[in-house]
Amino acid sequence: MPMTRTNDQRVFLGRIRNEDQDKVADSPLVRPWDGAPAAVWPYGSGGAPHMRIVGTTGGGKSSLLRSLLRNLVHKPGPRAITVIDAEGAGEFTVLEGMPWVAQVINVNPVADAKLADGQPTSVELAAQAVADHLALSVERNEQRMLAQQAWLQLLKDPARHRQPAYQRPGEAWLVIDGWATFCQVLARYSKAKADTVEDLTLIGMNGRKTDVHLILADQVTYASKSKDDDGMPSRLKKQLSCSVAAVGALGLTASEGRMAFDDEHAGRLIPRVPGGCLMQVGATRVPFIVPPWANATDPDAPLTVQQRRDAYRLLPAPEPVS
Ligand SMILES: Nc1ncnc2c1ncn2[C@@H]1O[C@H](COP(=O)(O)OP(=O)(O)OP(=O)(O)O)[C@@H](O)[C@H]1O
Ligand SMILES: [Mg+2]
Repeated sequence: MPMTRTNDQRVFLGRIRNEDQDKVADSPLVRPWDGAPAAVWPYGSGGAPHMRIVGTTGGGKSSLLRSLLRNLVHKPGPRAITVIDAEGAGEFTVLEGMPWVAQVINVNPVADAKLADGQPTSVELAAQAVADHLALSVERNEQRMLAQQAWLQLLKDPARHRQPAYQRPGEAWLVIDGWATFCQVLARYSKAKADTVEDLTLIGMNGRKTDVHLILADQVTYASKSKDDDGMPSRLKKQLSCSVAAVGALGLTASEGRMAFDDEHAGRLIPRVPGGCLMQVGATRVPFIVPPWANATDPDAPLTVQQRRDAYRLLPAPEPVS
């Protein structure tokens, strides 16, 4: 019997202000969540499989990512999540060892230099994670193509009754915070010398129908033709069909609005409070607010031990190691 997926491929992003609720009531990006309308990202079939998060420094990108990942950790799987913190700030340490979290890679070439010989460096782990997701997405796409051929044969030949044994695989997630830094660090420190933009574009294409999902977060940047370009070329941008600006109280300038949404007025829609965001898929937009969630492992956070424990408890218990 082919396995059917019972889990809904949507993830909660944030709540919707009262004044916005009427405007977005019929949106496919809005679902009731805990009794109130909420912004949800439909990442499954028919939705937008990959996400780009933009926003100025301090706008709330990493906080949105932590919140989104916490919700994925709570969702029925199967899934395997790899998180890469390209700026080496340890922003995702709190998620280490949580259900479905395969790896949290804190990229830090300086710390790498201190590792004992033979230990894999953070840069090598990050490069390997990209290579692995590329191989996985290509392999899954090939399997899917073979299954299509098998269906075609079955349809053409009335004597055949055996259905193809294809099963939709579990979700794989590659989440990169600090996209431009990631590209620079790999270009400078990785011996593999891969083309990161090309690899991610290919993961985007091959992962679309095969549940290999990408989330790339960075400040808003243009891709220019100059040599020191740290932007995102449009062929990769095109794959990341769910765009989110996470700017909170800082807001979005007209030029950032053009870069992120092709609309200089987009910033006007964003709630100017901590956690304020705007999501766009196609021409559909939903402003929302990410609920606050303290980062329990942040050494600089002005939190008591009890507050840290309370925040950490909002994650489910790690799965027992067998
Ligand atoms: N949902 C939220 N509720 C309350 N405060 C928030 C929320 N999200 C972010 N903040 C505040 O904004 C600060 C900056 O957020 P965050 O580190 O996520 O920004 P960022 O976009 O990742 O910045 P950078 O580009 O520097 O990495 C946080 O330390 C927190 O104080
Ligand atoms: Mg950040």
